[in-house]
Amino acid sequence: MYRVTLIPGDGIGPEVTEAAKRVIDSTGIQIHWDILDASEALLKETFNSPERNRVALKGPITTPVGKGFRSINVMLRSKYDLYINLRPIISIPGIKTPFDGIDLVIFRENTEDIYCGIEYMKEPGKAEAIKTITEYASERIARSAFEYAAKHGRRKVTVVHKANILKMSDGLFLETAGRVSKAYPMIEFEDIIIDNMCMQLVTKPERYDVILTMNLYGDILSDLCAGLVGGLGFAPSANIGKDMAIFEAVHGSAPDIAGKGIANPTAIILSGAMMLDYLGEKQGAERIRKAVLKTIEGQRVLTADMGGTAATKEFTEAVINNL
Ligand code: NAI
Ligand code: MG
Repeated sequence: MYRVTLIPGDGIGPEVTEAAKRVIDSTGIQIHWDILDASEALLKETFNSPERNRVALKGPITTPVGKGFRSINVMLRSKYDLYINLRPIISIPGIKTPFDGIDLVIFRENTEDIYCGIEYMKEPGKAEAIKTITEYASERIARSAFEYAAKHGRRKVTVVHKANILKMSDGLFLETAGRVSKAYPMIEFEDIIIDNMCMQLVTKPERYDVILTMNLYGDILSDLCAGLVGGLGFAPSANIGKDMAIFEAVHGSAPDIAGKGIANPTAIILSGAMMLDYLGEKQGAERIRKAVLKTIEGQRVLTADMGGTAATKEFTEAVINNL
């Protein structure tokens, strides 16, 4: 029996996490879920429960734009030092996009960059934000990316930066990645400037394998890459630290479709499969991935973003039937 913290989040969060929970429970793997919402009363618990359980599955949480509290997502990642944000992007048979055969993974540094939240009004009409890059954090994310590449038979690591402008901060990240790459001579290493990378990705995405980058570029590239394989409904992710991990979709709370029961739960279901991998339940994880692919390939029960008319619940039930 595993104990896992489940944070439903808000917006479409409760709808899609419920779907993921049902699919995971249907594998027969015994999980005791500690379900916590991020409402004020439970906020403290939300921050402490993952510490006890070491593993959490989390729905998106809305963050006010331009004012209000700091992102709870960013706070969770920094509290638990979840320094790896691992985001696989894979073409899904049956989903029509301009590209086939995309199979890449993003390694996004998850603890620093401008997400440190150091911002101030220098004087009226002049705001400043601090970007922090350390050799320590750059080295551990670079090492994680290369270790992953070596372990999973990946051929290339591409480091993405803007070191032509940010010579010191991005320069340090790039230089550190280059140094780490020396220990992995069998893996090709290249670097590319972020703006060019955006263009390359929307024209020749099949060229990329493992993408290693800083927090902000990783955030932006993740949504861009999700778009390459059909949209945010398909992109899972893991926030991984030394002995703890939080699994969540790349997407946010999708206020435009929240409460309608039509969200695509694939991203969080696949995040749940990543969680099972992390727990050592490889077979359960594989069964879930196969069931999702079979459901989509069947083309009969698809949510609106996939061109169908099925509700979240109907899609989820079809996945469970295909397990
Ligand atoms: P979003 O990712 O919530 O939505 C972007 C677009 O994608 C919308 O049109 C939405 O309907 C669509 N979409 C997203 N997920 C979908 C799904 N599963 N099925 C079908 N369509 C889907 O991005 P947005 O609107 O910029 O952010 C909304 C809120 O979410 C913000 O407050 C933001 O801060 C927060 N957010 C939270 C995250 C987290 O908790 N980890 C991550 C990203 C954003
Ligand atoms: Mg994002």
